[in-house]
Amino acid sequence: MTIRVLLDTDPGIDDALAILLAIASPELDLRAVTVTGGNCPLAAGVANARSVLALVQQQRIPVCAGVALPLIRPAFTAAETHGASGLGYAILPQSAAPFASEHGVDCIIRELLDAPGQVSLVPVAPLTNIALAIRKEPSIVDVVKEVIIMGGAVRVDGNTTSLAEFNFFVDPHAAHIVLTSGMPMTLVPWDITRDVMLYQHHIDRLLAIDSPVTEFIAAATRFYLDFHQASFGVAGCSINDPVALALTLWPELATTQSVRIDIEYSSELTIGKTVLSYVGDATHPPRDTDMTGYAAAEWPATWRSKQRPAHNVKLVTHFDTETFIERFVSRMEALARLFPRD
Ligand code: RIB
Ligand code: CA
Repeated sequence: MTIRVLLDTDPGIDDALAILLAIASPELDLRAVTVTGGNCPLAAGVANARSVLALVQQQRIPVCAGVALPLIRPAFTAAETHGASGLGYAILPQSAAPFASEHGVDCIIRELLDAPGQVSLVPVAPLTNIALAIRKEPSIVDVVKEVIIMGGAVRVDGNTTSLAEFNFFVDPHAAHIVLTSGMPMTLVPWDITRDVMLYQHHIDRLLAIDSPVTEFIAAATRFYLDFHQASFGVAGCSINDPVALALTLWPELATTQSVRIDIEYSSELTIGKTVLSYVGDATHPPRDTDMTGYAAAEWPATWRSKQRPAHNVKLVTHFDTETFIERFVSRMEALARLFPRD
């Protein structure tokens, strides 16, 4: 039985790679791609998602425009990371498919209510669409099968401020609504995804296949590689969003720990910071180190009161990057072979 997936995106180079991985995975039934403002403005993100689906002849999959701006904060985009178009140096033709008329928030609500307990919701963007879907139809929290979120920086510096990861920084109020919703959430933080990298040798391997698909991946990631080299001094590029999608396919690649994650959304100085707490005996923090992989002595000094909110997410603490990258590149090769250059 195929796995029903909804991808909520801000395409974005790594968002585009997540869309391609979904298409390259016969186990998945990609029901729709919803879009919000983030890496690039909403309209550009919608056009990019449509073009990527057209590249692999999947125009039948609806791309639904969602909310353009964060709930309260001003728009914040990332042209330095993803390029002016949002897809780096790649140039794709506009899709000729008719525009989907359904709003992204309504698409999420409908897909979840139509198939209770069957849909994996994978937000890899600011959480504005998800937050408004919860506000518009609160019952979706009870019918979603799982929510696998790419976002947050828990025990490492952020990639947008010294404290905050991009998706959670752009709309921290939406992230707060989602994190406190009670949905069955898995959080894939920047802690993990920053080390899940494509390198030039992966791109060279793909370019051995003459296809518009490999040409697109190479052009998009060439900008992304340049950005990572200039910004982080690394020769690879972090493919954050495909990691979240991968957990619908291969959950065994991740180790998770049930914890409490909250987000700062009121202090201008620390806005977007994700705060990890554990729910355990107030005076005896966890001793074994398989609790999120941190030794008890490393645990951040968090709430010591007896009263603590319950755990709200399964935090990914370890990920089998090597296995995933091989599977990702292999699936991109297989996808490209379906579309040889004429
Ligand atoms: O911090 C990385 C995340 O922010 C990724 O989803 C990237 O596409 C951007 O949306
Ligand atoms: Ca994204």
